[in-house]
Order: sequence, then structure tokens, then C-alpha cells
Amino acid sequence: MLVDTHSHIEMSDFTSDLGEVVARAQGCSVGAIICVGLNLSDSARAVQLAQEYPCIYATVGVHPHDAQSIVAATYPQLEELAQSAKVVAYGEIGLDFFHDLSPRAVQRERFAEQLAIAARLGLPVVIHDRDAHAETLAIIRSSPHRRGGVFHCFSGDVAFARQCLDEGFYISITGVVTFPKAQELREVVEFVPLSRLLIETDCPFLTPRPHRGKRNEPAYVSLVAQALAEIKGITVAEVALTTTANAEKLFGISLREEGSQDG
Ligand code: NI
Repeated sequence: MLVDTHSHIEMSDFTSDLGEVVARAQGCSVGAIICVGLNLSDSARAVQLAQEYPCIYATVGVHPHDAQSIVAATYPQLEELAQSAKVVAYGEIGLDFFHDLSPRAVQRERFAEQLAIAARLGLPVVIHDRDAHAETLAIIRSSPHRRGGVFHCFSGDVAFARQCLDEGFYISITGVVTFPKAQELREVVEFVPLSRLLIETDCPFLTPRPHRGKRNEPAYVSLVAQALAEIKGITVAEVALTTTANAEKLFGISLREEGSQDG
């Protein structure tokens, strides 16, 4: 069984065929899909989907792109949403100094504030870090948050991966690992112990080979598992077993193989 630990199936890209998307994922042994909130309304939609589908779990938070959309009423409403039993983490939050869609000073402040909220809620965090590695870690270190979390769609090198591991974080790998140019990411996968790796699609973005050019979806997390198995020289079953156990531990969820045929 696999877990897609980071998806955006709450986005309008999936409105017309979400039932089929979820069914295809289940057909590819995806036992759970984490639906990650990007802003207040998007987080509300993620929580709603988690309530509709047993295999979907949600996170709530405001992405660095939307940091400047945060107003006084935003945080109490996110905290209210976080009371749902299906909310398993806070995020995605962090810094994006590549797109710079919100001013950097605003991104820094809203990131620190949300780490404090996550700490108060007792939730792990889903971190978005793009071209801001050192500063992202520095803000985490100076925050009261000690519950750990995941660097999603990891984009650093081995040295930065080591620092994230030292800080107690998991490293999550997307379909980018299947791209020809992603040699540095493959080195990170080789370096990071399987016990600290998670897999994700970040769908509808970052479609893995051989489906590039099409919309990404949770079923394709199986291609990420396959890539990890090839890089580490182990079986897909080993990747599935350990990364799913990692996801269960971090997000506090428990997946049972229903009607398991292989005992
Ligand atoms: Ni995302």
C-alpha cells in the first residue's frame, strides 16, 4: 500500500472527475491521499473532501504564494478547520524566493506565525521551500514548533538534506525524481535513509515520466515509488512498506490492508 502524502485534488482541475481519480488511485494500491491546503478557501475544500472520502486526509494552512492574502480573520478560521479529525498536519507553509508571489518580508512573518499556530495545535508541518533553504531552516529553528514535519517536493542537495534530517524532518520526493535532469535529487534519494523518506505527487503539477504533459494524479505516486526502488536497489514492496509506515507515523494515521490476500 502507498500513500500520496501531498496532493492538490481539491483544485478545480479535479472537480469534474474526482471520483474516478480516487478510484484509479485505489486501483494502484494508494491507500491514503493527503490533500494539502493552499489558502483559507482551499483548506476548507480539502477538509470537505476528507469528510466525503474515507481515504482522503487534509491539511490546512496558507502557502507562501498566498501569504499576503492573510487577514486578521484568517487564522481563527484555519484553527477552526483544524479541529476536524481528518486534519493531519498544518501547511503548506514556508518560503518561495523563486516565484516571489508575496513580498519576502511578508512571507517570513506569515511563516513564523503559522509555525507558532501549528505548535499550539500540536500538528506536524508541511514545508514548502523554494530557493530559500537556509532561511527556511533558520525560521523553523527559531520557532516554538517541535512536532517535526516534512520538506515537501525536496529541492536541495545532500548537505541540506542532512540538515533537515538533523532537525527531525522527513524528506518528500515527487515525480521530479523521474526527470532526466534530476541527478542531484537522485543523489539525495540515495543518501536519505528509507526510514526518513516520503513519496508524493504534488498533483496536478510535476507529472512523472512517462506521463509528462498530462495532468498528474495520485495514482502516479506508484511511479515515484518505482523510481526510489531503482535508485536504492530495493524492491517496490520495500519502498511501499517503509514510506507508508513513515506517513502513518508522521501524520498519525493508521491504514489497514483490507481483505489482504498476501497475508
Ligand atoms: Ni503543494
